[in-house]
Amino acid sequence: MREIISAEQVSSRIAELGEQINADYQDKSLLIVAVLRGGVYFAVDLSRCINRPLALDFIEISTYGETSDLHGVVRITKDTEEPITGQHVLLVEDIVDTGLSLSYLLRALMARQPADIAVCTLIDSPARRLVSVPVKYVGFSVDEENLVGCGLDYQQQWRNLPYIASLRSDRQA
Ligand code: PRP
Repeated sequence: MREIISAEQVSSRIAELGEQINADYQDKSLLIVAVLRGGVYFAVDLSRCINRPLALDFIEISTYGETSDLHGVVRITKDTEEPITGQHVLLVEDIVDTGLSLSYLLRALMARQPADIAVCTLIDSPARRLVSVPVKYVGFSVDEENLVGCGLDYQQQWRNLPYIASLRSDRQA
């Protein structure tokens, strides 16, 4: 395993994102929707750096078929509990990769007529994108595969690492 982003870098970037969000939502309250399961660690850490009134909710989706398949079927396996209509929603992900999950989630949440939705992800991997998705807040842009830590897993393990690591020992070409 090779550390890519240290725990100190992660926390200081999360604090910066929190400040940015505080400035952007000065007179507003927020509904944070964390995407299970990976988004939970980041959403909780980020929420501690936000000084606006906020509620925390969760959503989970699953895909049938290949995740890299544009025609793969996605469904909500655990829905949010809080009303979304009229809310300022901050959708929080650990990683945006192909963008397929986010694209589906945005469509599903927009249908509930929030006041607005912004996406905040700890890791953005733009080189792997298959569909264009609007990502307003990005912690780190990293195009490596097999990342773990800060919510990112390999076979459900390593989510709890306080830093981001690659399971590849070598640097990718
Ligand atoms: C990961 C991640 C995003 C999605 C991003 O979830 O948390 O939700 O994949 O990939 P995409 O941009 O290619 O759609 P995963 O399905 O691994 O579930 P997990 O959060 O429970 O680990």
